[in-house]
Amino acid sequence: MNHFVSMKDLSAGEIQQLIKLAEQYERGQYSNLTKEGKRFVANLFYEPSTRTKMSFEVAEKKLGLEILDFHCDSSSEQKGESIYDTAKTFSSIGAEALIIRHPVDNQVQLLAEQLPVPVINAGDGKGEHPTQSLLDLYTMYKEFSYFKDLKVLMIGDILHSRVARSNALALKTLGAEVFLSCPKEWQDPNIDYPYLDLDEAIEHCDVAMLLRIQLERHQHQTNLSAQQYLARYGLTKEREQRMKSNAIIMHPAPVNRNVEIEDCLVECERSRIFKQMEYGVYTRMAVLNMLLNKGDEAVGENHQTMYAHAQQW
Ligand code: CP
Repeated sequence: MNHFVSMKDLSAGEIQQLIKLAEQYERGQYSNLTKEGKRFVANLFYEPSTRTKMSFEVAEKKLGLEILDFHCDSSSEQKGESIYDTAKTFSSIGAEALIIRHPVDNQVQLLAEQLPVPVINAGDGKGEHPTQSLLDLYTMYKEFSYFKDLKVLMIGDILHSRVARSNALALKTLGAEVFLSCPKEWQDPNIDYPYLDLDEAIEHCDVAMLLRIQLERHQHQTNLSAQQYLARYGLTKEREQRMKSNAIIMHPAPVNRNVEIEDCLVECERSRIFKQMEYGVYTRMAVLNMLLNKGDEAVGENHQTMYAHAQQW
């Protein structure tokens, strides 16, 4: 693994290796990635972020890495510097990995092909959000311990969601049964899973994954009010009560309360929304280790054994 830009690049074995590594980090079994001297990484966020940026920062600090923080507004981007020149600058001055969020689809993948250091996609436009996907997978793994035929229902703004795209790819690799539910105009013909009526699907899923309405990426305003959206496409208390007894609720956040999900459900017993954020730290530590240390030291099993186990998920 040279970069971490798309879930389509990862085999089941590699996903399992990352999950096992994250589990060790959760147990507190780790040491710094910096045995000799300082090691630098750069966080280049060209779009707003709370969870991804801050949990990368916590992950980097726990691993003993030095962070080169970048603020678009006070950078030479304001003088017209291209993202390639900015990223190449960070690699030239010593950053060993670049964590990049950008509003343009595929921009991060393009940079990964051009740069001499590992690139991590922290979300590119409507493209992908692979570290969100990894923490989502980790959340499901912690709950169910398997993926084969796990019923995952993704609900909401499928068309504009990079989280949906990355999870669709990863869950296919892992053999889960994915189905989708959303307004017709937000269906994505490139995501090859069945669209079901929410009231039917909610009773059968193991995981109900709500997606944020990505207003900033919409070309046309929706005609639905928040109240109408919640009633037709959101997770209401009435729908939650019809879920399987052990089914869980997920949402990548930020959450639009009382739009995608009724306020009282955000922190209900089935909700794993804030657990997902906690798991984001361990999974991002795992990705950094994989890229900067090739997953050494924390993993007890070798890759071949991991791969054999992954076939049983
Ligand atoms: N889930 C997620 O990507 O959140 P942020 O935009 O706050 O990073």
